[in-house]
Amino acid sequence: MTTNKTVLRTQNLKSYYILDVYGTKKVVKAVDGVDLEIQENEIYGIAGESGCGKTTLLKALYALIKPPLRLMDGRVVYTRGDQDIDIYSLRKDEIRKLRWEYIAYIPQGAMSIFNPVIKLKETYRDFLDSHISGKTEKEMLAIAREHIDKLGLPTKILDAYPHQLSGGMRQRVAIALAALLKPNVIFADEPTTALDVVVQRGVVQLLKSIQNLQRNTIILVTHDMGIHANITDRLAIMYAGKIIEEAATREIFKNPLHPYTQYLINSLPKFGDTGKRASTPGNPPSLANLPEGCPFHPRCPQLSEICKERIPKLTSTDNGHKVACWLMNGGEDDKNATSS
Ligand SMILES: Nc1ncnc2c1ncn2[C@@H]1O[C@H](COP(=O)(O)OP(=O)(O)O)[C@@H](O)[C@H]1O
Ligand SMILES: [Mg+2]
Repeated sequence: MTTNKTVLRTQNLKSYYILDVYGTKKVVKAVDGVDLEIQENEIYGIAGESGCGKTTLLKALYALIKPPLRLMDGRVVYTRGDQDIDIYSLRKDEIRKLRWEYIAYIPQGAMSIFNPVIKLKETYRDFLDSHISGKTEKEMLAIAREHIDKLGLPTKILDAYPHQLSGGMRQRVAIALAALLKPNVIFADEPTTALDVVVQRGVVQLLKSIQNLQRNTIILVTHDMGIHANITDRLAIMYAGKIIEEAATREIFKNPLHPYTQYLINSLPKFGDTGKRASTPGNPPSLANLPEGCPFHPRCPQLSEICKERIPKLTSTDNGHKVACWLMNGGEDDKNATSS
């Protein structure tokens, strides 16, 4: 459910890895001109094959930029109440204050963040202790217990050591921890990856419960289109550091416009289908050595001449559906794009 109130927006966001490979400079254009506008109370999905820049985009949104990653251009603006906050204009201590209380980040493999030698309740207590003041030990544990219980997880896990829980339960406890201070925006990077299907369902259910109870905005990154179909309200498809399609998730699955999105959807297994899935040959391009023109053109089954030369801009068609493809009418050049 969305209220159409923007909570996060970016303008021409560019973040590159600048590497020195035996004296030769190599530039990996992991996030290359991304414009986002994310609404309050929505679950916004970001999809795309491995290596297309999803994790780097989340890092740039969370201001987790450290060498070799660099912010090259653009802005990341959060709206808090009636205030606009440009995260890259804040001091370090101001960013620290924003994190966990206003924006929370669940990194890939979050299940392994826990200290193995302390019980989970101590991790929860330490976390609360560093963010809120004036509570006794007992009160903090009560807050942790109530939070865990509300999210439908067994409260006895608080008395366990991390290794006593299954990977799936540890992952859920890590996600619940990120939601403890009721942040307005939660970033989750591949939270279901490496879990089996039944356990994945539990993680999806937990994210839904958090959003239901806390009414926050969740930005969910996964390469798994099945998960997106299940949980996200709107969906962005990323390819080679750019958003190449964006629409309501239902609309994307019903009417995918970009040949790459069509490929991602067609490669999903279908009920009762035992045959081999259609696949687009090849792999995503190296982000240090992008082809001229549309970055998808070497793999595109609907290629024409213009695609080899010019980069299409992400443009709106009807009902908020955006696509960057020369097949659509009104395609403009992407003026922000940097050719290699
Ligand atoms: N620390 C790093 N140093 C250099 N290149 C990196 C680093 N991390 C990621 N990359 C490169 O940046 C590109 C985008 O990676 P990433 O954001 O992790 O994509 P995704 O999350 O979609 O798999 C890839 O080409 C990857 O090899
Ligand atoms: Mg990733």
